[in-house]
Amino acid sequence: AIDMRSLYTKAGRLSYDPGFMATASCQSAISYIDGEKGELLYRGYPIEQLAVSCDYMDTCFLLLKGELPTPAEKAEFNNNVADYAMVHEQMQFFFRGFRRDAHPMAVLVAIVGALSAFYHDSLDINDPIHRELAAQRLLAHMPTLVAMSYKYSIGQPFIYPRKDLYYTANFMRMMFGTPIEDYKINDVLVRALDRIFILHADHEQNASTTTVRLAGSSGANPFACISAGIACLWGPAHGGANEAALSMIRSIGSVDKVGEFVKSVKDPANQARLMGFGHRVYKNIDPRATLMRETCHEVLNELGLNNDPLFKIALEIERVALEDDYFVSRKLYPNVDFYSGIVQSALGIPSNIFTGIFALARTVGWIAQWKEMISDPEQRIGRPRQLYVGQPRRDVPPRQK
Ligand code: ACO
Repeated sequence: AIDMRSLYTKAGRLSYDPGFMATASCQSAISYIDGEKGELLYRGYPIEQLAVSCDYMDTCFLLLKGELPTPAEKAEFNNNVADYAMVHEQMQFFFRGFRRDAHPMAVLVAIVGALSAFYHDSLDINDPIHRELAAQRLLAHMPTLVAMSYKYSIGQPFIYPRKDLYYTANFMRMMFGTPIEDYKINDVLVRALDRIFILHADHEQNASTTTVRLAGSSGANPFACISAGIACLWGPAHGGANEAALSMIRSIGSVDKVGEFVKSVKDPANQARLMGFGHRVYKNIDPRATLMRETCHEVLNELGLNNDPLFKIALEIERVALEDDYFVSRKLYPNVDFYSGIVQSALGIPSNIFTGIFALARTVGWIAQWKEMISDPEQRIGRPRQLYVGQPRRDVPPRQK
């Protein structure tokens, strides 16, 4: 039985809200979702417009500073980020401590957390210069670290970043280049990955962002906070969904098996889910999914993979589900992860790196949210209460000496 006295605190009556379905944990001016309309805004700008007119560096500037950059501001921003792309040389020894077959996300969680052991000059969260420096390092280091975690997992040498390349092109070169053959940059493919980055850059108080804020609310340093966010993102219900969606599509195997598969998902006895479908907030089409579907067409076209069987299966799943009352009545539509796995796989990115790509893209959102929280005068340590349902007070029985 619940002790009714525990329902009242100094702050007022407690609300019991598992999963924070009806709780706003903060005020924020960064991104906005209207789940009913299927709308996502970054600093007021619709994601559809940003995805067409801006690149990821514009988006990062916007999220961090509140406005889109002027050409001069953008040149300076790009330059600063490029300056910090190289990680401390000592970090490669840290990588070498891991097994080669470790999941790259396990490595990434540790490596990003370890940045706080490398950069003592950006740990004072009360100093705006330290905060700026940490933000810049995190944003600039993520592509290098994700590429290093991939290269390490396949036993290839690390590729150093280059200052003259755009952020996303640089990342692709560090992923796919080798010392004996440089990576040939294809603008269509760079633009596709850049769009994935834009679409994943921020998404208000999702689980990983809330984790970053909660970790940061104790005064923890930003590297530790982002590492906590990455750990949360790795879960299959959050950032791991695109990997799960792609393996689901692969396991279905052919278009004619889609109907049977969708039927099996609906059976409560199977406790299965259609991966890449549904969203806690969007109860209409996820606007990012529409953009990702378009990118999927562009990439497959560019690579001559128009008849890609995985994409055909995906389209069939979408068709069957959107005509099925089970999905329609529960407002379960494809989310961005449904298509992003197919795009990434066409780009040559292995599925165990998908969540790393998501973490790379979301880092700017996490940093913007962390900075906003730190400078909010109402900010205090995040400390939810609970409804205690355990034993009432009792005495320890005599123990054997
Ligand atoms: N497939 C089949 N049924 C589903 C699905 C799905 N993907 N998602 C929800 N449902 C059903 C539930 O079984 C439940 O049915 P019931 O009312 O008969 O019990 C109903 O829809 C409501 O489900 P909830 O779990 O309450 O929805 P919630 O908002 O908590 O979950 C979530 C959202 C976690 C995203 C869920 O839809 C899901 O697991 N989807 C698959 C994983 C996925 O794609 N995650 C990516 C999220 S987006 C992102 O992180 C970028």
